[in-house]
Formats: sequence, C-alpha cells, structure tokens
Amino acid sequence: MGSRVAERMLTWQTQLARRAGVELCLRRVLVRDVGKPRMVEIGRELLTADAAQLLDDPSIQVVVEVAGGDEPMRSYLERAIASGKHVVTANKVVMANHGPELLSLAAEKNVDVYFEAAVGGGIPLISAFRTDLQANRIERVSAVINGTTNYVLGRMAAEELPLESAVREAQAAGYAEADPTDDVGGFDATYKLAILGSIAYEIRVRPSDIYREGIDGIEPVDFRYARELGYAIKLIAHTQRHPGRVEARVHPAMVPLDHPLAQVEGANNAVFVEGDLVGQVLLVGQGAGGRPTASAVVGDLIDLARSIRRGVQSRPSFSFDDRVGVIPMGEVVTRAYYRIRAEDRPGVLAAVGQVFAEEGVSISSFIQKDAWVEEKTAELVITTHPTADSRLQRARERIAQLEPVRAVSSFLRVF
Ligand SMILES: NC(=O)c1ccc[n+]([C@@H]2O[C@H](COP(=O)([O-])OP(=O)(O)OC[C@H]3O[C@@H](n4cnc5c(N)ncnc54)[C@H](OP(=O)(O)O)[C@@H]3O)[C@@H](O)[C@H]2O)c1
Repeated sequence: MGSRVAERMLTWQTQLARRAGVELCLRRVLVRDVGKPRMVEIGRELLTADAAQLLDDPSIQVVVEVAGGDEPMRSYLERAIASGKHVVTANKVVMANHGPELLSLAAEKNVDVYFEAAVGGGIPLISAFRTDLQANRIERVSAVINGTTNYVLGRMAAEELPLESAVREAQAAGYAEADPTDDVGGFDATYKLAILGSIAYEIRVRPSDIYREGIDGIEPVDFRYARELGYAIKLIAHTQRHPGRVEARVHPAMVPLDHPLAQVEGANNAVFVEGDLVGQVLLVGQGAGGRPTASAVVGDLIDLARSIRRGVQSRPSFSFDDRVGVIPMGEVVTRAYYRIRAEDRPGVLAAVGQVFAEEGVSISSFIQKDAWVEEKTAELVITTHPTADSRLQRARERIAQLEPVRAVSSFLRVF
C-alpha cells in the first residue's frame, strides 16, 4: 500500500498540487530494506532504513505512516508530533490503542493527525464523522468492517463450506493473511470499532473495553437455518449510545435479510451510522487493498496540506469525555439464536423451556429441525426476545448440562 501512496505522489504531482494549493514533495521513504526491488520506481536517495532521517529533519512537515503494527510506529508518531510534525497514518492498531493520547498531544502541539485509512480502507468514514456529520449527536454505528470475514462467511453461506475451506479460498483470492487470526478472531474489527466509537462519541473506547467474539464457532448448517428464519450471518461491529454509557461489541450475528448490512457482498465493508439530525446514513465500499487505502491516505494528505497552507486547522481538535464508559456485555440487551442437539424423546422441550423460563428469557420461535433416527437425536432451533446477555449465557450453560441435551452447538445473537 505504501507503494501506491508513493506512486500517486510521484505520478500525479500536478493534480495534487492544484488540489492542495501547494506542491506535495516526497522527501524521504522509510523502509526496512533499502536494497529490496520495489513495484514503484523510487529514487535510491529517497530511501532510508533510519527513522531519524525523517523524524529529526526539520524541513519535513508531514509524516505519512503506512507500515502498521504497534511499536516502533507508536513511538515514531509520538516523536513526530512532539517535534511539531503533522501525521497521516493508516495504522489501526496504534490509533485504536493510543489514538486518544496521540490526538491530545497533537492538540497540545497544534498539529493534526489524520487517519482516514485506518478504518474502512477507501470508504470516507473519519472525514464523515469529523466534518459532514459534526452537527449530529451520533446515536449508533453498526458495521461490517472486516472484508476477510465477510468474504469467508459469504463462501460458507453460498456453498455450505466449513470455515477452514472458506479461509483457504480467501487466502487464495488474496483476501486473507497467511495467519488469519486477526480477522477470524474479530481482533481487526475490534480495533476499527474502538476508533469509530472514540470519534463518534468523543470518549476513549479501548479495544479491551469491547466485547469480542470471532466467527470460528459457526457451522455451515447455521447459514441454512438462518436463511429459513429470514437472516444472513455477518460479523457485526456495533456501538450504541445509552444514558451515560455506550454499548460496543464485535461478534457474529444474524441480520435480517432486508437490512443493508445483510446485503454486503464479498470483501466489501459497510457502515451504518445514525445521527440525531441526519437520521440513517449508509457508507459502503472497499474496506482494504492497496489502491483504496492509498486513496484515503493521499486524500488526507491533500486536506492537511491545504490547511497547513491556510494556517488554519480545517478539522476540529478532539476532546475526550472520560466520564462515559462502555457497558459490560452481560448487561447488553439482545436477541439470540440457539441450535441444540438433544435426544428425540418426550419431555426434552419442556426441560429446555423451563430453563429459559427460570432465566427470564422469553422464546420467540421454537422449531425442531433435522433428526438423526439411528442416534435418536434431533436439532432444536430456538430464537428469543430481547434479554440481558448474561441471562442468555446462563440459559446456554444450563441447557448444555441438561441430561437429554448432547450440546448447544451454536449460539448467535440476533441483530
Ligand atoms: N493494505 C491494506 O489494505 C491496508 C488497509 C488499511 C490499513 N493498512 C495498514 O497499513 C499497514 C501496511 O499495509 P501493507 O501490508 O499494505 O503494507 P506493505 O506493503 O507491507 O508496506 C509496508 C511498508 O512499511 C515498511 N515498514 C514496515 N515496518 C517497518 C519498520 N519497522 N521500519 C521501517 N519500515 C517499515 C516496509 O518496508 P520494506 O518494504 O522494506 O519491507 C514497507 O515498505 C498495515 O499493517 C495496516 O496497518 C493497510
């Protein structure tokens, strides 16, 4: 992606200068290996493996960071800001874990930090919150924000593939890393939700505050049952304002088929925002990839160059309200879907129903699905009305322990 940024800066200079009102000059490129062959022709004299050559050069006004990972990039960005440089970064890990501190330091040093590329690749999200939607109180943000898992879930749904096969397909198509843990485990979506939540409400939402569940517990049959009930299964990142607190969670969920998030195809991303003035807004597009991400990075750079030239900040500084925290998942009210494998004999439904009743969980639908005659077992599919998540979890644990129940094979929240 760094190559795409350099390419646009080197081959589109006239257009960029016209839009920025000032020439954007690539002064140095920090890499690990200066001898490595590169996709884009970059003058050898621009390349360096020594960060000090950028960070300690007073003639460099803006540091663009597209390397990724926590350290050493967090320290580099902090050093750049402390010495009065503006920053453009695509780094979700740094912005999710340390964004509020870096933004506060930037406000103190009177410089800007732009990070459009850190969430949703080329989709204009951060600028939407910071400029177009700034007259609103943001009420909720719901998103399909990880393209890899959306692609994997799409393949599992279409072909009833097991997770491992769908991940291998995503790797072959270039949508998944060799180690897919960050995506499949929901970590990547959690970083992005932390950033979105922090800027939507101007509070500090840390990745560790967010409830996280990956897509690894879902089986192919769940897609069939979900479809029959009128749902798709998506990895959803959701945050919502409540009096004095916010909800923030990442987990797979059943989404009604007519909801826009159910219709996000392939590796695309979509973010559904609700503001008190604007109502509902949907932003959709390519959430990753070298070219879309470079679009966001260079767009930030143009905006920043324009504001440096004018001597005014075009976007407001952040201030974070530390009185507002994240609601523990157990208190979040949600609906749920259970797939239960149990012995096919009288009394089972009554036993399961009694646990729900004792936990105060009201059942919305109850269907007996596939039966295994030889084993004398059947599958029960149950959906509930909205209930505190802790009650839904207690019911899940207690049902799994009932004598005729073999397993609670799946548990999904219903969005
Ligand atoms: N690509 C995307 O779709 C996308 C989308 C959103 C955000 N991002 C963010 O951008 C990051 C990089 O994306 P990518 O994988 O596309 O990049 P990439 O092509 O691997 O490029 C990263 C560049 O940074 C340099 N670099 C990495 N660590 C360094 C270090 N410690 N010191 C000096 N130079 C270092 C690399 O140098 P060498 O070339 O010498 O190895 C390389 O030129 C990701 O980790 C993510 O945080 C990417």
